Amino acid sequence: MRLSFKILIIWVKPPGTIELKTSFGDLTMEKGIRIVDLLGKEEEYTGKKALVQGWVRTKRDSKAGICFIEINDGSCMKSLQVIAELDREDYSELLKKITTGSAILVEGAVSASPGKGQSIELHAERIHLYGWADPALYPLQKKRHSFEYLRQIAHLRPRTNTIGAAARVRNRLSYAIHQFFQNLGFHYIHTPIITASDCEGAGEIFRVTTLDPVHPVDTTEEDPYRNDFFAKPAFLTVSGQLQAEIYALALGRVYTFGPTFRAENSNTSRHLAEFWMVEPEMAFYDLEDDLDLAQAFIKKLVGVVLDDCGEELEFFARFIEPELMARLQNAAQSAFEVITYSEAVDILIKSSEKFAFPVQWGVDLQSEHERYLTERVFKKPLGIINFPRSLKPFYMRVNDDEKTVAAMDILVPGIGEIIGGSQREERLDLLLEQMRIKEISADDYRWYIELRQFGSVPHSGFGLGLERMMQFVTGIQNIREVIPFPRTPGHVEF
Ligand code: 4AD
Ligand code: MG
Repeated sequence: MRLSFKILIIWVKPPGTIELKTSFGDLTMEKGIRIVDLLGKEEEYTGKKALVQGWVRTKRDSKAGICFIEINDGSCMKSLQVIAELDREDYSELLKKITTGSAILVEGAVSASPGKGQSIELHAERIHLYGWADPALYPLQKKRHSFEYLRQIAHLRPRTNTIGAAARVRNRLSYAIHQFFQNLGFHYIHTPIITASDCEGAGEIFRVTTLDPVHPVDTTEEDPYRNDFFAKPAFLTVSGQLQAEIYALALGRVYTFGPTFRAENSNTSRHLAEFWMVEPEMAFYDLEDDLDLAQAFIKKLVGVVLDDCGEELEFFARFIEPELMARLQNAAQSAFEVITYSEAVDILIKSSEKFAFPVQWGVDLQSEHERYLTERVFKKPLGIINFPRSLKPFYMRVNDDEKTVAAMDILVPGIGEIIGGSQREERLDLLLEQMRIKEISADDYRWYIELRQFGSVPHSGFGLGLERMMQFVTGIQNIREVIPFPRTPGHVEF
């Protein structure tokens, strides 16, 4: 199979055409070179033939009988300039049909480009039109559209510069997340999407049921869920933490990375109903170790994007957020500041800033407070630790003052909270007390309690919202633009 494939390629491609180096069998469709690969090896390909496939961004006829086509294949920011001859017999009729948005193949000779903004161009010898796009209907004609408009055409928006660039950065970040933890010996655990527990205890959970929504269960009945699929209430997970704890107390260091769901009815620029969270969980880690790991993690992710997504960052810095590069360099290089919740409250009370939500000890910090602290006071990423016990979930470890828990939030400029985590309560009696205060059923969480009865150890973890990280590294204001298919109150498509 392998041998015949190679022979086929040599036979099909004329000498000088860029050879396709795949070996997964007989490919029946022609496969060109990706534009990113072509532009990455300009010198090597200049003077040779190449075949590219992609979508037309622009097309323009010149008086000199030349047609310029910009073709983009999504492999990188840049498009490739194609030069076609308007009166060339074998494709002149076809050329007239090609419009913005059409999918085409172009084969031709690569040469150095005299034009501005590109080093090489492709002189078309053969053109094929896969799919036409009617110019009267294709919605991406203009160079720039508002993000609100693009959200209404979520099936076409990845063909724009911003959404395409965000998708490539998101891919790189996701890979870097695995690289970071794998290099440190963490084990990747697939925690469930359907769960019977509410980790954060905030009640913002989506129910999973096969019962008729028109006739919801009568909770006054005995065993009202007996006819439901799982015979008990089930939900979409808000966090994989509790299940990750189970594996941390067996494998030492683990992480989970997957979609999480929250039914909070907040239409803000930093909340989604479905978002991705990465959650490491480590046995024998205290809060300080947890903070150190979180800091190293953020720095690594920022560093990878700076190293590997230069083209995209340049674009975002030019069109989205002028301060982007300075902000990222700062996050990659400076040591994060760490303060306690009480210190944060003091700073906020003493500040002359007028906040919409007034601050006093015991209130939850709002986005405006977080951003004031990280952007205006410290001007870099900031860790806040030791929050009031009443504000945080039952699983956080109670501090010796008995008023606060060993919680940590990490805030970054431009976003506010990007990470939430804590040391976990590993002492059985204190866990039971926390559960009693927060009215959490010991029956439902028997397994969680048993982890404290059998070989309990100090342990810690945190959760990073992938989309908040995406907002930080791209400068994109609204979280709906950094996930391919945003789900928010009142909006679900596809
Ligand atoms: O602070 P949170 O709620 O923490 C937890 O869920 C813990 N169980 C994590 C852990 O310790 N393993 O959420 C963690 C992060 C937030 O800091 C934020 O970045 C992101 O998840 N996040 C959201 N992102 C988008 N939309 C939402 N509705 C989000 N809610 C939280
Ligand atoms: Mg939080």
